Amino acid sequence: MKVEIHTLFQYLLDTTEAEPEAFIGFSLSESPKLGDFLADLDPELRLDWNQSSFRGLPELRQHVLAQAGLTNICQPDDVLITAGAAEANYLAFLQLVQPGDEVVVERPGWPQAEVLAKAVGAKLVAVDRGEAQGWALPLDALAHAITDKTKLIFLTNPNNPTGRMMPEAELHAIANMADRVGAWLLVDEVYAGLEWAGPRAPSIAGLYPRGITIGSVSKALGLQGLRTGWLICPDATLVQDAVILRENASEIMNILGETIAEIALRPARLTAALSSARQTALETLGRLDTYIAKEPGLSWHRPQAGLIGLARLANDIDSDAFAQRLLADPYRTFLLPGSCYGLPNHIRVGVGGGANSQLDLGLTRMSELLANWQN
Ligand SMILES: Cc1ncc(COP(=O)(O)O)c(C=O)c1O
Repeated sequence: MKVEIHTLFQYLLDTTEAEPEAFIGFSLSESPKLGDFLADLDPELRLDWNQSSFRGLPELRQHVLAQAGLTNICQPDDVLITAGAAEANYLAFLQLVQPGDEVVVERPGWPQAEVLAKAVGAKLVAVDRGEAQGWALPLDALAHAITDKTKLIFLTNPNNPTGRMMPEAELHAIANMADRVGAWLLVDEVYAGLEWAGPRAPSIAGLYPRGITIGSVSKALGLQGLRTGWLICPDATLVQDAVILRENASEIMNILGETIAEIALRPARLTAALSSARQTALETLGRLDTYIAKEPGLSWHRPQAGLIGLARLANDIDSDAFAQRLLADPYRTFLLPGSCYGLPNHIRVGVGGGANSQLDLGLTRMSELLANWQN
């Protein structure tokens, strides 16, 4: 199996050293500092494997179930702590999908499934989300895409990059479609926790026996550098298979990541962190929404959850050319072109990162570029 690079990662690699002065693309809340956790850390902590379980610290797995609303529905042994949501997706995908299997994905969506399907030799079947419908996933098209050969349906909720949410009724409908053909249903919930249009959607691991919930502390809590995520699934064999593959990848979880994530997910601390992130994000999202409404070069559907959304560039402007010109002098502003999601006339905009992102400066410069585009 050889993994080929995807456009999105290629863009990040190409721009790593660009040193932008402003970002309109931050997808995570402002990151806490190590000092915020020192008072709760034990200096005697041994920096070895957690000594108790290959699935991750038991208290952390309890918190993971609690934040997903699964405390009385799933068991702590249904949870595997991983090196971020990215590893959780990887472990589930590789242990389930064989060459020739069909994998159903959404477009736009998180590209990891597409990359892995190509590497494994599986057939990718993409279902287009409808922009005119606020990026809703069309369930009739999804039903059509699912066949007897479908091994895995891979979705995000909230969706990366549009912030569209699938409510409980849709999740049940999709689980029924998966059940009819015995397919696995993975829902990557890495953007959950900052919902603007209603409650957090229920986790698929509590709705469907072959449902796999993926999450992490990366986005709403801004703790991406901890590399701590999880997979939750009521199927013991799937979790065990993931443990086995992980033994041959990152082997064990990093103890510092587990320990800090356990502190961050303690109920009182989590509630406070989410409420502060929510307050900042709502205010910033409001500013971005007003900006886009007034900017003739852009239009969008405001995200229903999370910190990122997809905006359409007017006049069929090419997103690659736009992002590159915006990143260069004199604008020096970073955002992701929609080409990373197969949408060449859109851009991904985000309101995370706090004051360091210099969002307002970036928006001013983006307006200048839009006004100067033909020059
Ligand atoms: C949908 C989605 N899944 C997974 C990841 C990876 O997250 P983590 O940092 O938890 O590995 C990302 C990161 O951007 C993402 O957007």
